[in-house]
Amino acid sequence: MDASQKKRNAAEAALQFIEPGTVLGVGTGSTVNFLIDMLPDVRDRIDGVVSSSNASTALLQERGFEVRTLNETGDIDVYIDGADECNKHLQLIKGGGGALTREKVLAAAARRFVCIVDDSKLVGMLGRFPVPIEVLPMAQELVSRQLLKMRGHPIWREGFVTDNSNHILDVEDLQISNPPEMEARISQIPGVVTVGIFAARPADILLISGDGGIREMRA
Ligand code: 5RP
Repeated sequence: MDASQKKRNAAEAALQFIEPGTVLGVGTGSTVNFLIDMLPDVRDRIDGVVSSSNASTALLQERGFEVRTLNETGDIDVYIDGADECNKHLQLIKGGGGALTREKVLAAAARRFVCIVDDSKLVGMLGRFPVPIEVLPMAQELVSRQLLKMRGHPIWREGFVTDNSNHILDVEDLQISNPPEMEARISQIPGVVTVGIFAARPADILLISGDGGIREMRA
């Protein structure tokens, strides 16, 4: 089965978590795009939609959904999003699409965070995928120097500007043996807006799509 089909299956498996009256948070990326395509089929179960990016907002609006702000909805019932990497503790690396800041906000506001991935994303130790970090443009070099001291190798995602008008550093070679500790440490560097390690608030449910079907892991 190819990766697209696995992503589509993961998205379909997430629909069961959208119960009648759900205020739904929608993530960003190719896996979530399959979910967005399916949402019109469960429209009657959705009470409100909040989006993690301008890209997802546009797709939702094309399908006739009115996208509300988190300030309007308050906490959301279910947040569904993909990931670039996940481990068996349901800790994640996110931000390959550059939407990590709003994604982390929605994850924090969610009663239930359902993460949908294909089986290539499951790793023993996080960090094979370069860790995306959203930074204030004026602090990019300062943050880069601090990351070098941590033995990371930051690469500026040149030409990319986030929905919050910031830059992204993709950091290779970080040794993430303790994801919550690494998340906290990088978050404290002045100029860091958001680090793409999601460990303090991991997923609650991980749906891993493979050749043999969907494997569900819970926290
Ligand atoms: C975007 C993300 C995405 O969830 C992550 O990049 C996974 O994307 P895809 O579903 O395309 O593999 O964090 O910022």
